[in-house]
Formats: sequence, structure tokens, C-alpha cells
Amino acid sequence: MRISATIARAGMRRGARGFSAVPKTMRAAVVRQVGGPDVLKVEKDYPVPAIADGQVLVKNQFAGINFIDTYHRSGMYKRELPFIGGQEGGGQIAALSPKAEAAGWKVGDRVAYSILQTYSEFSAVPAAKLLKVPAGVGLDVATACVVQGLTAHYLTHDAHAQLIKPGEWCLIHGVGGGTCQWAAQMARLRGYKVIGTCAKGKLSVAQQTRCDELIVLDEVPGKSFEDYASVDVVKRVMEITAGQGCKAVIDGIGLNTMDISINSLARRGIFVSFGNASGAVPAFPVLRLIEKSAFVTRPKLLDYTVDRAELDRRAGDIFGWLLSGELKVGIDRTFPLEKAADGHIYLEAGKSTGKVLYSID
Ligand SMILES: NC(=O)c1ccc[n+]([C@@H]2O[C@H](COP(=O)([O-])OP(=O)(O)OC[C@H]3O[C@@H](n4cnc5c(N)ncnc54)[C@H](OP(=O)(O)O)[C@@H]3O)[C@@H](O)[C@H]2O)c1
Repeated sequence: MRISATIARAGMRRGARGFSAVPKTMRAAVVRQVGGPDVLKVEKDYPVPAIADGQVLVKNQFAGINFIDTYHRSGMYKRELPFIGGQEGGGQIAALSPKAEAAGWKVGDRVAYSILQTYSEFSAVPAAKLLKVPAGVGLDVATACVVQGLTAHYLTHDAHAQLIKPGEWCLIHGVGGGTCQWAAQMARLRGYKVIGTCAKGKLSVAQQTRCDELIVLDEVPGKSFEDYASVDVVKRVMEITAGQGCKAVIDGIGLNTMDISINSLARRGIFVSFGNASGAVPAFPVLRLIEKSAFVTRPKLLDYTVDRAELDRRAGDIFGWLLSGELKVGIDRTFPLEKAADGHIYLEAGKSTGKVLYSID
């Protein structure tokens, strides 16, 4: 059942707190043809989505910029054109359907969520996907939770299939960056001993993650991500772990780090390959794993937030740690939505030291 924007507007007027009307059109960063960052164009008259029963209309204050958005924009991951970019948002409920209202949601609730099409003033979001943001957690940080925070949670709690136990070594690449800045802190909260790799320029951020050991690499000239050839990472890992290696390796860098990751494993350790910031991990023979009787997994967030209970469990942990101060995450840069292309250029340059967001007035 589709609920027209008119009904949504009427519903909003009834319970409005700060919202007087939902316009018919909105600003949105739209991809009409795939390509470089410039194909992301801000349009001022994109139709505001109608909400279906079970959905709410969120007035977005922030949209997260994630690597996957650049893969959609460039055509590496296929999408039907045209589309609004993004898959992470945070804001306030501006209107809601009867089913969402019956589920306890209210106009004005502060929420964060992940669905496709978030680089826009408004998004129609299934209530089942909403995270209620507690007072005391900023909407910017809450928006960052939805992809990087939840990903770091499942990587450090479940994706390793419990092949690592508290007190054992875990290697996490790029702890001066986004997801792995969260993951390093969560791995420490789990009681693992953590070795983090990071680029020289991101050392101060990496140090705040409280890794037991940091392996600091030179930067690629002209870029700010690590030159993995500048230090013998495997040798350092083996020195640190007294020749045992790591029971889990969490790797979002991909192409540049896969050999390091596999060679740093302990016997019966697991290579958790969750991303490809430097390029896709190429196919390799399974026989390669025999040396350590190793495991490999290539997980994705969707398979680790399969129902409301799992989503609430992960978000509850994260919001709890943020409120208690056990988890500290930085927002690196916030670009106005009008500068949509600049946000992608910045992320793809590997310069980020934490979450990159769009602010949407
Ligand atoms: N499977 C999942 O569930 C899932 C969820 C979220 C993200 N991902 C994927 O994981 C990857 C990382 O995402 P993220 O959000 O953590 O991104 P991020 O915050 O930008 O961190 C990625 C890090 O990769 C390094 N890097 C960036 N570009 C590079 C390049 N060209 N060559 C070598 N290193 C480079 C940088 O490391 P330093 O900071 O150390 O310099 C950068 O900070 C992406 O491929 C993303 O799509 C997967």
C-alpha cells in the first residue's frame, strides 16, 4: 500500500515538532550516468518519496559516504540508472505511516538507518530498519554507526567464527581509517591483543584506538594511504607474536594486503576479507590455505544484521560504548551535500581518518 505524500504531509502536521510541511521536491545527489565523481550531480527538484505502510519519511541531517557508494557511482557495482547515491543516513522522522506509528515511532524521533538512496533531503525508510538514536549521541556519529560501526561490530564479534579467543592476537589493517578505527577498539573491548597497521600520517588517530602494537608504514607518494612494501609487515607480526601469527586478520584494504594477511595467520587462523579499498582480492587456490590449515571468509553487513534482534543487539552495544566513553570515533570531514563530488574525491584519495559525511540543511 502506497501512502501519498499528501497523507504523509497531513500526518506530519498532526504530530509535527519543528516540521511544518513536506515539500513536493527536494535536493538530492543523483547519478544519471556512471563514471568519475563529477557524475554525481545535485538536483534541486527531485520528487520527495511517498511512504508505504510500515515506512517513515526521514528528514535527513547527515548522509554517510562509504566506499560502496563510489563503486555504485563508477559502475563497478551495477545499479539501475538514475539513482540517488548513498546508503547511510541520519535525521528526524518528518512523517510516518499508520503501521510505523503503531510500532511506536513518532514524528521528531532522531534516527539513523541504512537503505539505498540517502544523499537527499528526505528518505522513505522501513521502520524495521531504523535505529533510535539515544540522547547524548550526536546524529553525525549515529549516522557513522550504521555502516562502519555495525560492520566493525560483526567483524570483531562474529565474522571470525569464534576462531579467536580473548588474549589471542588479531591483526587489523588501516586502523587510522574508517571501519577499522572502530574495529580496533572493539577488538580490544573483546579482549583480543591487537596489532594495527596504519599510514604514518594517520598515526595520531591510530594511537587513540589503543592497539597493543602499531606497525607504521610510509605513505604512497602523493597519497595518504599506506605503502605496504615500505615495511616487512609479516616479519613484524611474527616478531610480535613470537612466531605464532594471528588467529584472525581483519582486512578491508584488499588487493594490497591479501598476501600479508594470509602470511600473517596463525595455525587455524581466519582471514576475514571484508573490503577492497585498494582493489578487489584476486582468486587464489584453496591449497594455499594448507600451510596453516587456515580459514577464509568474505562477509557482508547484510548477512550479519538479518533481523531486528540482531540489529538491536549490535546497535545497543555500540551506543552503550559511545555513551560510556569506551568507544571514541571521529568524524573526519563533513561536506555540504552541494559539494557531493568533493566528498567522493576525498574518500577515494584514501585521506580519511574517520567518517566522511554530507550535511544536509
Ligand atoms: N563487507 C562489508 O560488510 C563492508 C562494510 C563496510 C565497508 N566495506 C568495504 O571495506 C573497505 C574499507 O571501507 P572503510 O569504510 O573502512 O573505508 P575507509 O574508512 O576509507 O578506510 C579504508 C582505508 O583503506 C586505505 N586505503 C584507501 N584507499 C586505498 C588505496 N587506494 N590503496 C591502499 N589503501 C587504501 C586507507 O587506509 P589508512 O587509513 O590506513 O591509510 C583507508 O583509510 C571498502 O572496500 C568498503 O567497501 C565492506
